[in-house]
Amino acid sequence: MTRTYIKNAGEKIGEEILINGWVDVRRDQGKMVFFDFRDMTGAVQGVVLPGSDAMETAKEAREEFVISVRGKVNERPEKNKQKGKLNGDIELEILSLDILNPAVTPPFNTRGDTREINEDVRLKYRYLDLRSPRMQKNMRGRDAVISFFRKHMHENGFVEIETPIMMKGTPEGSREYVVPSRLHKGQFYVLPQSPQQFKQLLMVSGFEKYFQIARCMRDEDQRGDRQPEFTQLDYEMSFVNREDVLLYTEDMFIKLVKTLYPGKKISETPFPRLTYEESIKKYGTDKPDLRKDKNNGDELAFAWIVDFPMFEKTGNDEIQAAHHPFCAVKPEDRKKFMEGKDIFSIRADSYDLVLNGYELSSGSIRIHDRSEQKQVFELLGISEEEQIKKFGHLLEAFTYGAPPHGGFAPGIDRIVMILENEPNIREVIAFPKTGEGRDLMAGAPSEISEKQLKELGISINTKK
Ligand code: AMO
Repeated sequence: MTRTYIKNAGEKIGEEILINGWVDVRRDQGKMVFFDFRDMTGAVQGVVLPGSDAMETAKEAREEFVISVRGKVNERPEKNKQKGKLNGDIELEILSLDILNPAVTPPFNTRGDTREINEDVRLKYRYLDLRSPRMQKNMRGRDAVISFFRKHMHENGFVEIETPIMMKGTPEGSREYVVPSRLHKGQFYVLPQSPQQFKQLLMVSGFEKYFQIARCMRDEDQRGDRQPEFTQLDYEMSFVNREDVLLYTEDMFIKLVKTLYPGKKISETPFPRLTYEESIKKYGTDKPDLRKDKNNGDELAFAWIVDFPMFEKTGNDEIQAAHHPFCAVKPEDRKKFMEGKDIFSIRADSYDLVLNGYELSSGSIRIHDRSEQKQVFELLGISEEEQIKKFGHLLEAFTYGAPPHGGFAPGIDRIVMILENEPNIREVIAFPKTGEGRDLMAGAPSEISEKQLKELGISINTKK
C-alpha cells in the first residue's frame, strides 16, 4: 500500500490508508487507545477500538516512537468536529500499528515552545529541538525566503555561481578562519568572510548579474545577531549606479513581504533614505529603529543609510576601510581622494539597508580602475609589495576590461529572524554555534589526533 501524507488523509474518507510518522500524543483509556500521529505535513487523530488487532502494539507505543499505521478514514460525528483544524473533521480507525523504532523519553518536551528550555540543552539535542512546531516553522520559513530570493534573482536574469570556500583572505573587517594545507606544509587556506573579490572578478568575466546564497565565515565576537557561520544573499551587477541597486533591492523586499508575510506592514515606501551623517546626528546610530511602536514585530521599518565614510580610524590610530577597501568613492570626493587630502571626510558610494534597528545589508558601487584601487591600498598604508602579494590578481584583473559594477549582500539569518519575530539568529539556523562559538552537539571545536597534526606539519604550543 502506498503511503498517504497526513495532510491528505481528509481526501480519503471511507478508504483504508497507510501513514508513517511519529506518535505525537498517546491517551490510553483502557479499552480504547487514542493517538495523535504526525508526519512532516501535519497531525491526525487515530483510535484503536476494543478488540482490534492493533491493541497489543498500541499498549506498547509511546510518544516519539516511529510508527507505520494502517487505518480507515472515518468522518467524525458533527459534534466532535474541530473546525478550522487540519484533519479536525476526521479520525483514523487504526487497523494495524507497527513500531518501526522505539524512542527513549526526550530530555525536554519537544511538542511545546522550546524557548523556555535552557539553550545549552536545546543545542546539545538540536535534532530534537528542531522537532518543535516553532522550529519547524522557522526552518520552513527560512526555506521559503531563500526560494523566493532564488526565484526572484533568476527571473531578473541573475546567474547563481558558487565561489570557493577554501581561498585566500578577503579583508572584510574581522578575523579569518584558517585551514592548514597537508600538501603544502606551513601554508594555509582562509575561509571566506564573503565572496566579495570573487563576485567582482565574475563581473570582469562578463556575467553582469551574479548571485549566490553564500556561506560566510568570520572569527569575531558573538552577539545575538551574529554567528561565526552565516548566510548572505550575495549579488553583484555590472553597468549600474547606486540608484539601480537600491531600486532593485527595494522592489525585491517589498515583494518578499507581500508574498510570504502578508500580515506584516511596511511602515513607509519608498523606503526613507538618510545619509550616514544625518542618521548619526538624528538617531545617534547608523541603524535606527524607525518603527512607530518599537515593540511591534509586525511593523517593518526599512530605511536606507547612504554615503558612509570611506575611511575610519582604528583604536590604535591606524586607518582602515570603513566598509571594505573595494568601495568606490563618491564622484564629488574623488579629487580629495586621489590627492590623499582630508581623507576622513571622503565618502564612499555605499549604502546599508536597515530594518527595525538591525543592519540587514551593506553594499557599494565598487572601484573598477587599477589606479584608484591602488590609491585605496596606499592610503590604508599597505606597501606596494604587500598589495601585489595580497591583491595582485584583482589589480591585474582590472586592467583586462573591468566594467563599472556594484552590489549588495543581505544577511539571510537576520532577515528570517525579524520576519519570524525571533529575538536572535540562532532560532532560525538549524545547527548554530553558542555565544562562545561552540557546537555543543558534536563538540566542535575539538582537538585532532597526533597523526593528523603530524601530517599537517603542525605542533601545538600549549604554553599560554
Ligand atoms: P557586510 O560585512 O556588511 O558586507 O555583511 C553584509 C551582511 O551580512 C550579514 N552579516 C552577518 N550575519 C550574521 N552573522 C555575522 N557574523 C554577520 N556578519 C555580517 C549582515 C550584514 O549586513 N561583501 C560585503 C557586501 C557587499 O559589499 O556587497 C559584506 O559582506 O546582515
